[in-house]
Amino acid sequence: MERGARRAWSLLPEPVASSRVAVRARRSASSLLHRPRVLRTLAELDEMLERLDRAGAVSDDELRLGFTTFRMEVDVQMPLDPYSPEYRQAVFDLYEWLHGGPYTPKNELIPFDLERLSDSPFPYSTHSGPTVGNHLIGVGHVIRTLDLAPNSRVLEFGPGWGNTTLALAQMGHQVTAIDIGPNFVDLIRTRARRVNASVEAMVGDFSMIHDLEDVYDAVLFFESFHHSADHLDVLAGLERVVAPGGRVLFAAEPIYKSMAFPWGLRLDGESLWAIRRNGWLELGFRKSYFLEALQRFGWQAHRVACAETKWGEIFVARRAEQGKSSRGRG
Ligand SMILES: C[S@@+](CC[C@H](N)C(=O)[O-])C[C@H]1O[C@@H](n2cnc3c(N)ncnc32)[C@H](O)[C@@H]1O
Repeated sequence: MERGARRAWSLLPEPVASSRVAVRARRSASSLLHRPRVLRTLAELDEMLERLDRAGAVSDDELRLGFTTFRMEVDVQMPLDPYSPEYRQAVFDLYEWLHGGPYTPKNELIPFDLERLSDSPFPYSTHSGPTVGNHLIGVGHVIRTLDLAPNSRVLEFGPGWGNTTLALAQMGHQVTAIDIGPNFVDLIRTRARRVNASVEAMVGDFSMIHDLEDVYDAVLFFESFHHSADHLDVLAGLERVVAPGGRVLFAAEPIYKSMAFPWGLRLDGESLWAIRRNGWLELGFRKSYFLEALQRFGWQAHRVACAETKWGEIFVARRAEQGKSSRGRG
């Protein structure tokens, strides 16, 4: 059908094909043709995941393309108050159904070949031009937005492969990196040694925010905050660890203007794969909820957009009284 539509289009005379009405019609037709399949049962999901396994065996690009081909709709009635224990329970009940077991932060652990990935960590391991390029743009956008004074103190939660961590450490900043995965911590230490950079990498959960004694000029979450089992508790912990005048960056976090609910599990193809296959917590936040939650803890945030890639989407939070006077700076 898609090929037929393309062929019919190619037969239209150029002035017709490029008219505004025709371009609009083509966009609508293309979004209809590419509309992801809506799944409703675990059996349907497992069938799609098998397809993804086959796509992943071809290449990382194929796997990522496969993610866009489906999403899920579930008949769940969420409690009205997104701050209530009942609401939280409903989120974790849905997780348990989707994953096939209860959530624990240990579900975030993934085994990998430390030696091989120390040489070629994500995104390089994907061998994909768009993925590597976009991720580097994302990291660059974070560093440019931070625009830290020399020798700043940075706390990064969920550094994973350590790409941002190492770039900041190589700039001479004092970076403390906390990840739940001992193998990620080993990987960061290995990579730091190779470039003679100093990073304090520690194994720990987000809840460690309450045990830290130091304060930091910037706290960074790069695609990690949405794995937090108790995000309100993490937000509550920021007050103590952020130095006066300091900032918190939420980079590449799924914070969207239009979400069906204030916060909860994302049911797009990639998130479903991550939840069911790997057990990772894949939360998403409605922008208005996220900003209000920050406000409840005394923070005011604004978005710094990135036209090129979702890895460059950033929310920068400052203490509310300070946010009013210094919004201009990233
Ligand atoms: C999607 S990866 C992002 C990695 C890295 N920031 C990047 O952008 O490449 C999420 C990271 O968060 C870590 N993580 C997940 N849950 C965590 C928790 N409860 N406490 C600390 N780190 C956690 C994972 O181990 C993983 O390294």
